[in-house]
Amino acid sequence: MADETAVPAPRATANRSTTPVSGTFTDYIGSNWADRDDSIPEPREQAPFAAARRRRVSELYPAATLIIPAGASKVRSNDTDYPYRAHSGFAHLTGWGSDTVPGSVLVLTPRDGGHDATVYFREAAGRDSDEFYANSDIGEFWTGRRPTPRQVAADLGLATAGLGELDTALEGIDSTAIILRDVDSALTERVDHARVLAHNTDDNGNFAFLAAPGPFEQVDMDFARDLSELRLVKDEFEVAQMRLAVAATARGFDDVIADRPAILAHPRGERIVEGTFNRRARADGNTVGYDTIAAAGEHACILHWTRNDGPVRAGDLILLDAGVELDSYYTADITRTLPVNGTFSETQRRVYEAVREAADAAFHIVRPGIRFREVHQAAMAVIAAKTAEWGLLPGSAEESLQPDNQFHRRYMVHGTSHHLGLDVHDCAQARRELYLDGVLEAGMVFTIEPGLYFQPDDLSVPAEYRGIGVRIEDDILVTDSGAENLSIGIPRTADDVEAWLKA
Ligand code: GLY
Ligand code: MN
Repeated sequence: MADETAVPAPRATANRSTTPVSGTFTDYIGSNWADRDDSIPEPREQAPFAAARRRRVSELYPAATLIIPAGASKVRSNDTDYPYRAHSGFAHLTGWGSDTVPGSVLVLTPRDGGHDATVYFREAAGRDSDEFYANSDIGEFWTGRRPTPRQVAADLGLATAGLGELDTALEGIDSTAIILRDVDSALTERVDHARVLAHNTDDNGNFAFLAAPGPFEQVDMDFARDLSELRLVKDEFEVAQMRLAVAATARGFDDVIADRPAILAHPRGERIVEGTFNRRARADGNTVGYDTIAAAGEHACILHWTRNDGPVRAGDLILLDAGVELDSYYTADITRTLPVNGTFSETQRRVYEAVREAADAAFHIVRPGIRFREVHQAAMAVIAAKTAEWGLLPGSAEESLQPDNQFHRRYMVHGTSHHLGLDVHDCAQARRELYLDGVLEAGMVFTIEPGLYFQPDDLSVPAEYRGIGVRIEDDILVTDSGAENLSIGIPRTADDVEAWLKA
C-alpha cells in the first residue's frame, strides 16, 4: 500500500547543505560584482564547416523541423556527474565541442526552401537569483560561467535563444518534426507528445483523435542513420583535427616510452602507463577519446582491457591502445605493442611482424573505389597465411579463409577497421551497405588494426605463443589517389620499435 505520508526525496545534498538561505545573505551575495564579460568572439574555425553540414541535412529533410539535442549531463552517482560530453551529432552540426553548455538543443526550422538554425541553451542566471551560487548542478559558482546568447551566436555563426524559448518553438512543431532520439529522453518525450498532439489537431485547432500517429520512432532512427552517414567523409577542418589528434597522441606514446623505469618499478605498472599517457593528454589541454587500454603480458589478449591494474614486467609486451581527443571532440585511436625491455623475443618478433605485414597488406590496397570490407580481407589473408605457416590451423590458409571455417579468427576475433572521427567508433549508425559493404571515398578516415592474440590457456597453440597479444593500429586517411597513414610517424616495424625504445 502506498504511504500517504511519504514526502518527495530530498535533493541529493539537502541532508548536508550548509548554504545560507536567508534573504539577507541572498541580497548580500547578489551585490557588488563587476560586469560580466560580454565581449563578442570571432567565429570559430569550424563554424563555416558546420554551416555546410547543416545545409546538407537541410537538403535531405526540406520540410521537417529537425531537433538535435546535445544531451544532459549524466549522473555518475548521487550529485556527481560524468565529465560532460555533447552528442557527436550535435557537435558535428554546431561546431560546439568541449565547451558546449549541457542540455543545449539545435533546432532547424524549415523556411524558404532551407532551414533556420537556432541553438537553444541555458543562459547565465542573474546575480539576483540564487542559482549562480546555490545550484550545484548548473550554478556559476559550481560549474562555471555560461556565455551569453550573443557570444555563442557569434562564436558558432548561429542564431541562439534561451532554453526557455524552446517551449514556444516546440509548440509550433507539426507531426513531421524529427528528433535525434535517445540523446535527451525528457526532450524526446516532449517532442513525442507534441507530435501526437499536432497529428490529432484539425485545421481549426480542435483536438480529435484522427488516426494512429505516424511511426515517429522509425523516422527518428532514419534521421540518426542519416546524420551518422553524413560523417563518413570528413571535410578539410575534420582532417586537420585528426592530424592534430594523432600528433598529440604520438606525444603521449613518447612519454610512456620515457617513463619505463617508473612503469617497471610500480606493482601496477599498467596504471602508470595509462596515467602517463593521459597526463600528456591533459597537460596539452586535451582529454582521451576512450578509456586507455594499457595491457601488459597476457592482458594484451583481452581486447578491451581497461582495468589496467596489472604489473608490467621486463620480458613482457605492453599493448597500449590510446587516443587523444581535442576540444573539438575529434579523436585518434592508435595502438602500439612494445617489448618492455627494449627487445622482442624471437617468438614475440615473429608474431609482431606477422601483424605488421597484415597491417601493411591492408594499407596498400586502400584507395577510392574499393570496398571497406576488402581492407579486412587483405589483412586476414596474411593472418591466415602466417598462422597456417606456423602450424596453428587445422588445415591450409585457403581452407581457413573459407567463410564457414575462419579458423585463423580464433586468434583475432575483432574486425580490422572502423571509421574514426568525432567518435572513436564513428558513424556507428550508418547502414551496412555504406559501412562494411561501402565503397571508399577520399576524405574517409578509419583505423587499420589487425592483431594476433594467443590466450594463455589456448591448447591449440604451442606454449611459446601462449599469453602473447599484439595489435598494431594506425589511423588512415583515404586520399584522391590512395591513402595516407596519419600515424606513420609513430614507429611500427619491429626494428623501428626497438630503435625507438633504445633512443
Ligand atoms: N581502440 C579501441 C577500439 O577500437 O575498440
Ligand atoms: Mn580502434
